[in-house]
Amino acid sequence: MLELPVLELQDSALSAAPVQSGNTGRALYVETYGCQMNLNDTEIVQGIMAGAGYRLANSIEEADVVFLNTCAIRENAERKIHERLKHLRYWRKRKPELVVGVLGCMAERLRRNLLGEQGLVDLVVGPDEYRRLPELVERAFAGEQGIAVKLSRVETYDDITPLRTQGISAWISIMRGCDKFCTFCVVPFTRGRERSRPLESIVREAGQLWEQGFREVTLLGQNVNSYRDPHGQGDFADLLAAVAEAVPRMRIRYTTSHPYDMSDKLIETMAAYENICPYIHLPVQSGSDRILQLMNRHYTVAQYLERIEKIRTTIPGCALSTDIIVGFCTETEEDHQKTMELMEKVRYDGAYMFKYSPRENTKAWKWGDDVPDEVKSRRLEEIIELQNRISWEINQGEIGKVVEVLVEGPSKRDPAQWQGRTPTNKVVIFPHIGTQAGYVVGDLIHVRIERATSATLIGHVVA
Ligand code: SAH
Ligand code: SF4
Ligand code: F3S
Repeated sequence: MLELPVLELQDSALSAAPVQSGNTGRALYVETYGCQMNLNDTEIVQGIMAGAGYRLANSIEEADVVFLNTCAIRENAERKIHERLKHLRYWRKRKPELVVGVLGCMAERLRRNLLGEQGLVDLVVGPDEYRRLPELVERAFAGEQGIAVKLSRVETYDDITPLRTQGISAWISIMRGCDKFCTFCVVPFTRGRERSRPLESIVREAGQLWEQGFREVTLLGQNVNSYRDPHGQGDFADLLAAVAEAVPRMRIRYTTSHPYDMSDKLIETMAAYENICPYIHLPVQSGSDRILQLMNRHYTVAQYLERIEKIRTTIPGCALSTDIIVGFCTETEEDHQKTMELMEKVRYDGAYMFKYSPRENTKAWKWGDDVPDEVKSRRLEEIIELQNRISWEINQGEIGKVVEVLVEGPSKRDPAQWQGRTPTNKVVIFPHIGTQAGYVVGDLIHVRIERATSATLIGHVVA
């Protein structure tokens, strides 16, 4: 799969790092699972805890408080957290006073059940109750278990400054919750009703981020294109335009958008500003109208393709990615073939592909899970293979081109190579030649592409 900044699951936990000054003398360590909204929530939690005098620990060894910020989107995501909790027992034995909190979507879904878990969890706190964390942690140190899982209609943490710990790329959550109720999805239950943050404060935060040295900002929400300023200052296209004008040299991205709300106005706004990146993550889920209807997605394949056509004609060269679920209840071989046909038609630059995982409380939960796992696995393999081929072919078309790259730093696999991204969000790898390289992290450079895989472009910096 491509490395795209969509609402993807992290396979391993991401941890926050550098030590900040604080005055409780206590240190906090947060592990984050799930989507980018959760990553940004971790920064909000860190902001709240830093305000209460905590510093960030570099590892669990150093921590007095450990939070797991969890995801509940598929069963696998939850299984990982249960395993991690078992593992944490070891630390608890070595440090009996350690406070362990489960935050995020799984906390919201399982609530009190988690407090029983291995006798290990002291706190269970849902996504709208993070302001209470300092108080709850304090009580946990006094031996009291705590649970706070109320969902709010208004909480957007608008006044909290997220404690960001690294990089040149920042997230801003512009809305919380989701009202779409796709029949397979747990998010409306774990994150509650949709609510938007005021436009003005988002624009202000983007300006501050530029001043602090950030060079890319991603506006986040489960459904960003249904954003509405609470004071009547406009919709998502207006917000995007306002941010683009406020920070004209910042790269601006957003995720995730829902096909139903992908308006002409939004597409035209993207085309009108050079600093809004020509890349759209537009999850389709299935290529069969019958399945789309069962999923409550509010569009047909024809309507989806019409949106793609509008994007392609208005923003030439715009990259597209998607999410696809295989094996949703009642999915037949014919439905599956239709998904493959749609993928061939659209030719996405990348895709996140999943086996359907039934979630309690959702509408589809009651419909059962009638596609056998072997069939789901085979269908998943087929679409992954198809997507890899398409991504490879599209990337071969980049060979010989000179692309603009925002420098991110050393590549994870080989520090002698550096990496960055194109405006279309493709990862570019290029050799880094000592300090004479002439560029630093955060610079925009030009790279001539010489080779390409299905996931990466490889080339040399051109002067
Ligand atoms: N708000 C985003 C999706 C967030 S979840 C949107 O509507 O596009 C990210 C992806 O996880 C979804 O697009 C979907 O493809 C997948 N997903 C959600 N629930 C799932 C489930 N129960 N089983 C398998 N995949 C699921
Ligand atoms: Fe889930 Fe659908 Fe909302 Fe996305 S739009 S978060 S898939 S309910
Ligand atoms: Fe995100 Fe997972 Fe919650 S994908 S919104 S952390 S269920």
